[in-house]
Amino acid sequence: MKIEDIDLSATEFWGQPLNYREEAFDLLRTQDPYRYFEIPEEITEMFPQKGFHSLVRHSDVAEASRRSEDFCSGQGATSVVDLKGIELFGEDMNSFFGSMISMDDPRHQKLRKIVSSGFTPRRLAAIEDSVQRIAEEIIQKIGKQGECDFVLDVASRLPLLVICEMMGVPESQVDLVFEKSNVILGAGDDEYLPEGQDVLGAIMGAAFELTALMNDMLEERQDNPQDDLTSALLHAEVDGERLTTMEIASFFILLLVAGNETTRNALSWGMHLLTEHPDQKTALWNDFEVLAPKAAEEIVRWSSPVIYMRRTATRDGLRIGDHEFSEGDKVALYYWAANRDPQVFEDPHRFNIFREAKEHFGYGAPGPHFCLGAHLARREITVMLREIGRSIPDIHATAPPDRLLSNFINGIKHLPCSYNFIS
Ligand code: HEM
Repeated sequence: MKIEDIDLSATEFWGQPLNYREEAFDLLRTQDPYRYFEIPEEITEMFPQKGFHSLVRHSDVAEASRRSEDFCSGQGATSVVDLKGIELFGEDMNSFFGSMISMDDPRHQKLRKIVSSGFTPRRLAAIEDSVQRIAEEIIQKIGKQGECDFVLDVASRLPLLVICEMMGVPESQVDLVFEKSNVILGAGDDEYLPEGQDVLGAIMGAAFELTALMNDMLEERQDNPQDDLTSALLHAEVDGERLTTMEIASFFILLLVAGNETTRNALSWGMHLLTEHPDQKTALWNDFEVLAPKAAEEIVRWSSPVIYMRRTATRDGLRIGDHEFSEGDKVALYYWAANRDPQVFEDPHRFNIFREAKEHFGYGAPGPHFCLGAHLARREITVMLREIGRSIPDIHATAPPDRLLSNFINGIKHLPCSYNFIS
């Protein structure tokens, strides 16, 4: 492979086998760690804009993440393509889809405080209980079948049901929430793009339906608060300020997208990886309480469900390493590549649940946007692995992962599995 062959902007790049991706990022890390890529022409024809620089070293990603005043999120945190300026329901699409993830301090800090105030110790304990109960129910439900699509029947159910329960989404609406959040994150892949619709139209339609659902839920709770996060967000106040209905709707979409797709993919990659490494699977079941925390980190490091997040340089003359950035330069923080930096991880492409993968950036690098749900995600992964080890320990994938075509989410759409049910 030559460095000129690498085009992180090209859809085809993200459809290549993972070892191709590994090789490409290794090359970028050693030969051109701030390489510039143009945005594809079909987008710039309609929305003229700059390309982006890729950050691929662990130390550079850490630095950009920490220096949030220099490299901000407010001009598009999640995507190298600018969403700013495109309107949805009279709101800028960037702030609508991003909520706090696309904001900078002080607004970001305030919003994060309001949201955190909704997670009281009592509510956290209740959420942890629901994770346990929902995981048990999922495994009991599929148990006797002997085979399943691990993504649809297990991995996607747990985070979805946990978030829906946390927010108080009525049971009758859970499938709608599942379908629409798939569209928002997976619209680049034909399987999730509704027939006859373009990507932007599909995303907007899905967001519209989720907003309508949230509006109904908020209306209901206006006079009759319930014991859920939606009610807490509606009534929470920090420095005399409350969230608007639109802010809550956009936070709901962020939670669905940030909390669902990520955890689902971590679990699915985990199942694929344990299948590929049966010795590690046996070791995990035999010494679960010691190895599970390491396995949960290693799965997220290796899979890096969020491939990158974007930042924007806020002024001229900002340096990272030997590169100088100018105001408005976009930088993509490739968490996926930082998690395979041999300076930090020995034999980085190897999946190894015995390693201490603590410094991985699967949940983002240290900084104001570090994943708000990391604790919950770790809990979901550990609890689900424990239930699997208990009831269907011989589970294994019977086909390679059917991967999502995306430059942003390292996803699996289907993973057929087979197993024997113990109890
Ligand atoms: C394995 C599962 C997960 C992974 C890999 C993951 C990954 C990430 C990453 C990389 C970021 C950093 C964004 C940035 O750098 O701009 C982030 C932020 C965030 N995550 Fe997670 N996440 C996971 C699970 C969850 C869950 C379960 C929730 C909530 C239910 C959640 C909620 C959020 C929120 C709200 C933010 C934005 C925080 C902010 O901007 O201040 N995540 N996540």
